[in-house]
Amino acid sequence: MTKLKWGMIGGGDGSQIGPAHRLGAQADGLFEFAAGALDHRPVEGRAYAQRLGIAEDRAYGDWREMLEGERDRADRIDLVTVATPNSTHFEITKAFLEAGFNVLCEKPMTLTVEEGEEIVRVAEASGKICAVNYCYSAYPMVRQARAMVRNGEIGKVRLVVTNFSHGHHGDATDADNPRVRWRYDPAMAGVSGQFADCGIHALHMASFICDDAVDRLSADFASTIPSRELEDDAMVNFRMTGGTVGRLWTSSVAIGRQHGFDIQVFGETGGLRWASEQPNQLISTPVGGRTQIIEKGEAGLHEEARRLSRVAIAHPEGFPLAVANIYCDLADAIRGETRDGLPGAADGVRSMAAVHAAVDSARQHGAWVDARPPMFR
Ligand SMILES: NC(=O)c1ccc[n+]([C@@H]2O[C@H](COP(=O)([O-])OP(=O)(O)OC[C@H]3O[C@@H](n4cnc5c(N)ncnc54)[C@H](O)[C@@H]3O)[C@@H](O)[C@H]2O)c1
Repeated sequence: MTKLKWGMIGGGDGSQIGPAHRLGAQADGLFEFAAGALDHRPVEGRAYAQRLGIAEDRAYGDWREMLEGERDRADRIDLVTVATPNSTHFEITKAFLEAGFNVLCEKPMTLTVEEGEEIVRVAEASGKICAVNYCYSAYPMVRQARAMVRNGEIGKVRLVVTNFSHGHHGDATDADNPRVRWRYDPAMAGVSGQFADCGIHALHMASFICDDAVDRLSADFASTIPSRELEDDAMVNFRMTGGTVGRLWTSSVAIGRQHGFDIQVFGETGGLRWASEQPNQLISTPVGGRTQIIEKGEAGLHEEARRLSRVAIAHPEGFPLAVANIYCDLADAIRGETRDGLPGAADGVRSMAAVHAAVDSARQHGAWVDARPPMFR
């Protein structure tokens, strides 16, 4: 099978997420890295792209040049990844969708709900794929958890509890470091700090495993380091359309926690637990029974988990291969075989609506507010 052609915007030398995309897109031989505008500095971006093997004429200085350069090529890219800072996602994603490209956009998809709804509409009108990189949902054992819930193996879900809390911004003496400070500055980060950065992964995960949507929420935001205008800690209670009760804690000042993303789902006949720091195991407890560890790669997994497990049982697979699973689903979708589970623009706008609802709620001392985007009410 010929490889699909792939391009990336952002993800330059030293970026956090760029390497995971490069590894992920190329892990299964599905995509060839053909074009890029990798850096906000044109000279550095072109040079880095060429160091990574991109031909000189497709190593672009900025995304507009890339759009023009790719638009009319016979061998134009089949997919572009947008891995730039948040405030640029809307403009770049919209422009590439309108020009007929499939897009994988980093989270958060947009800064506002209105922009999110526009992306949903533009993607629909273009007939192109707009995926959003909620890559944690692509770990095999998360897909296993979703399949077990859908299959009724823990009964109706009563309660979901999730955390995405780390301590990497917990040092008050480092709070003015520019790489940290912008995240809590509304001019750079938008209306929310930690909840928009990490909390939305947890909220998406709750919806993904429970196969349900967040309906309303109540939030408590805190800036525990007083110089921060935006929150560095948030507790969000929510309800899902099907009645499931949700609890979410996200923090960047939880010193001692490293990655700190985990989720527990409690149903009428059993409970499930998954943690991103031990992603190859799913802990399952049937009501009245013993706790079991379900391992990636073992026999008897649901097909959704089995097809995304590459190496043998007990050989760890980690974050870049979860990103690779997003690219596997994208390659299938580009070739016309839609896969369940690929997060799309609807997920992206639901997250933005939840972020803005949480900000509203926190300003009203935790009042319960509608968390749905207007287009899905
Ligand atoms: N899905 C995840 O788990 C995950 C994890 C980390 C980051 N992210 C998201 O990825 C995005 C990037 O985050 P990061 O941590 O890699 O940021 P970063 O600051 O480490 O890197 C950003 C890169 O984008 C480049 N860039 C900036 N503006 C550009 C422009 N206009 N055109 C081309 N390149 C440009 C920069 O030069 C840099 O190379 C953010 O939206 C973030 O939320 C997602």
